Amino acid sequence: MALLAGKVAIVTGAGRGLGRCHALALAAHGAAVVVNDLGGSVVGGAPEKNGPDKNGEDAAAVVVAEIIASGGRAVANRASVADWAGAKSIIDDAVAAFGGLDIVVNNAGINRPASLITLTEADYDLETAVHLKGTTAVCHHAAALWARQGRREGRAIINTTSPVGVHPMPDGGPYCAAKAGIAALTVVAAQELASLGVRANAVAPAARTRMVMASPSVDQLMPRAAGFDRHLPDHVSPLVVYLASPLNRFTGRVFGAEGPDVALYQPWSADWLVSGDGQWPVEALAEALAALPEQAPIRAFYPGGRIDTLIPPNRTLKGLRG
Ligand SMILES: NC(=O)c1ccc[n+]([C@@H]2O[C@H](COP(=O)([O-])OP(=O)(O)OC[C@H]3O[C@@H](n4cnc5c(N)ncnc54)[C@H](O)[C@@H]3O)[C@@H](O)[C@H]2O)c1
Repeated sequence: MALLAGKVAIVTGAGRGLGRCHALALAAHGAAVVVNDLGGSVVGGAPEKNGPDKNGEDAAAVVVAEIIASGGRAVANRASVADWAGAKSIIDDAVAAFGGLDIVVNNAGINRPASLITLTEADYDLETAVHLKGTTAVCHHAAALWARQGRREGRAIINTTSPVGVHPMPDGGPYCAAKAGIAALTVVAAQELASLGVRANAVAPAARTRMVMASPSVDQLMPRAAGFDRHLPDHVSPLVVYLASPLNRFTGRVFGAEGPDVALYQPWSADWLVSGDGQWPVEALAEALAALPEQAPIRAFYPGGRIDTLIPPNRTLKGLRG
């Protein structure tokens, strides 16, 4: 029997890129899918270079047609996840079309790179609205439905963070912060919803999509090579199907995924502790902290694979020292 037979899934931002691949993969494994994307509408009042298509392409409908042509079941939803009521309509459509909801894939996203110096309020509002508010809103409405229904086994939330949500980089403050927030929200969801039979995990993907093509520096890290193309978005979807399936053993964790590589992140960890006899005098605290290392060794998982590095990186300390 198919791994996800009888399951109902929603995938946000599923009209193209990673979300489209996830929707097709979930459907191929037997799930009925609500394919959410913006279609021809516009977020925040202005067309985005990596947001909805300006020509009004109904991307969700195209993916629905692909799934149905392959013998699957799917309906389109064209709400913005950044709209609280719109997010609810995605859950409502799952119930109306397929009688329930088992799997939530929060994937919708947008990227407007800007440094803290050049950032605008509009950049900040859009990044946080689509990523953090959108993911929270969809999780909330799904959780509220599941709480009304009571415990059922096999429910899953798969959120989409980013390599830069766990290893933040310059020139993407609100994006990195929103993606870090999504990783934190995932841990909260795992804790709060376990008793409803929900496993919640996050995926930090690396794939050559429209979003990446709009960021030349990232595109350089994902070159097109002859033979196996490790940067196709399709390669991330088996992990999403696994996390949605009864095979999944994990909850509250973040996975990296690029081509054939799947990484499991260690969470933040308080590795060092200095303890005083009461409130620290500041000078004594400085003396105690002087014994601790200035840099922490980590294993980053960026496009291109795993690298051993340090936080803060040497270039940051060099920048401070001028
Ligand atoms: N491609 C990568 O390497 C990479 C790396 C890290 C994280 N991500 C994340 O993966 C997710 C998918 O991105 P992608 O690379 O496939 O980009 P993409 O631009 O190809 O797809 C994103 C989709 O989200 C949709 N969307 C945007 N705002 C929306 C909204 N308010 N409501 C509903 N849908 C909306 C867009 O219309 C688009 O179809 C995003 O969350 C992105 O941040 C991607």
